[in-house]
Amino acid sequence: MYLFQLGKAPRNVRTSLPRRYCSDIPEGTRMVTLIPGDGIGPEISAAVQKIFKAANVPIMWESVDVTPVKLPDGTFGIPPSVIESVNKNKVGLKGPLMTPVGKGHRSLNLALRKEFSLYANVRPCRSIEGYQTLYDDVDVVTIRENTEGEYSGIEHEVVEGVVQSIKLITEGASRRVAEFAFKYAQENNRTMVGAVHKANIMRMSDGLFLQCCREVASRYPNIKFQEHYLDTVCLRMVQDPSQFDILVMPNLYGDILSDLCAGLIGGLGLTPSGNIGEKGALFESVHGTAPDIAGQDKANPTALLLSGVMMLRHMNLHEHANIIEKACFETIRERKCITGDLGGSAKCSEYTNEICQKIEANFSNKGSSRS
Ligand SMILES: NC(=O)c1ccc[n+]([C@@H]2O[C@H](COP(=O)([O-])OP(=O)(O)OC[C@H]3O[C@@H](n4cnc5c(N)ncnc54)[C@H](O)[C@@H]3O)[C@@H](O)[C@H]2O)c1
Repeated sequence: MYLFQLGKAPRNVRTSLPRRYCSDIPEGTRMVTLIPGDGIGPEISAAVQKIFKAANVPIMWESVDVTPVKLPDGTFGIPPSVIESVNKNKVGLKGPLMTPVGKGHRSLNLALRKEFSLYANVRPCRSIEGYQTLYDDVDVVTIRENTEGEYSGIEHEVVEGVVQSIKLITEGASRRVAEFAFKYAQENNRTMVGAVHKANIMRMSDGLFLQCCREVASRYPNIKFQEHYLDTVCLRMVQDPSQFDILVMPNLYGDILSDLCAGLIGGLGLTPSGNIGEKGALFESVHGTAPDIAGQDKANPTALLLSGVMMLRHMNLHEHANIIEKACFETIRERKCITGDLGGSAKCSEYTNEICQKIEANFSNKGSSRS
């Protein structure tokens, strides 16, 4: 099965949606779940919606609130309306969610990944022209196993003062994410996949992950397979990121290494991501809720916007994706209207308007060249 088609919404939503969702949906328009999130989430989500509207993207947003609700078993979790919406639409865009530390409800991000079996987290990190960092040739994609490993949530107290956390690695999940990485490489004309591990120390768990990667690699002779120790890859990454192409790894390593890669291109405000699963796909910015700037019109919406661009490609809306991406990169390259985190002084709304104007100018140029 072609993995990138899994979240593809039906062409004619009119026939596939319950009546209550259909009344105002034009023919050919697809429904997408929108989780604006907390902190800066609503501001950057509104920016993305405005830019998508300027680009005439044929989707309709179904906005849902993930404020945790008390479930029948007494625990707090994702509201059923969110589950219903993602199950129906199969594709969604998500802003950041606040996670209480050490108390309160469990991470809703984790809960969403579990609920929809979002097993592969994909983060492309590519140098952005106009935003100078130490490197100008980064083009790395990290693919992180998203459902198990150190994040399986199996923790207990053995005796007072001694706690244990289980790192769960299964053959099924390891093979599934390895398969995804090689297919992604093949479909995106990439040449190398590297498995990141510590199988020298965690011989059974990382050993199994590595073994699964080797087995899958043997079925893709056209893609070069490499094996990297996590610590060595960190060292080599900051020395020369251009030597890496696609990296696939267990959950915790992916969490850390993908942030490191984001840092190479300018930080979390610029990095998009997609969580691809068996029951759908959720695309999200990788930064948090940025409570220090929330509500001040200072946030950079680029990460969420580029996550939206990934989402459009996942939905085979390539032309719209290209138009939006071009306008966004042009705006950053010009450096006239960029947000504070990129060294500018523009507000989120001004940056958004600049991108919209570029998209509209692009349409009118095309119109005039046609006439
Ligand atoms: N995927 C997610 O939903 C996600 C990811 C990370 C953190 N969080 C949550 O977010 C909350 C805050 O976390 P944190 O402070 O560690 O990290 P953060 O990413 O929210 O903020 C770190 C720094 O980066 C800045 N920043 C982040 N995104 C920005 C943007 N788009 N534009 C401009 N500046 C930006 C912030 O102002 C802050 O100075 C926590 O509750 C955490 O659990 C959620």
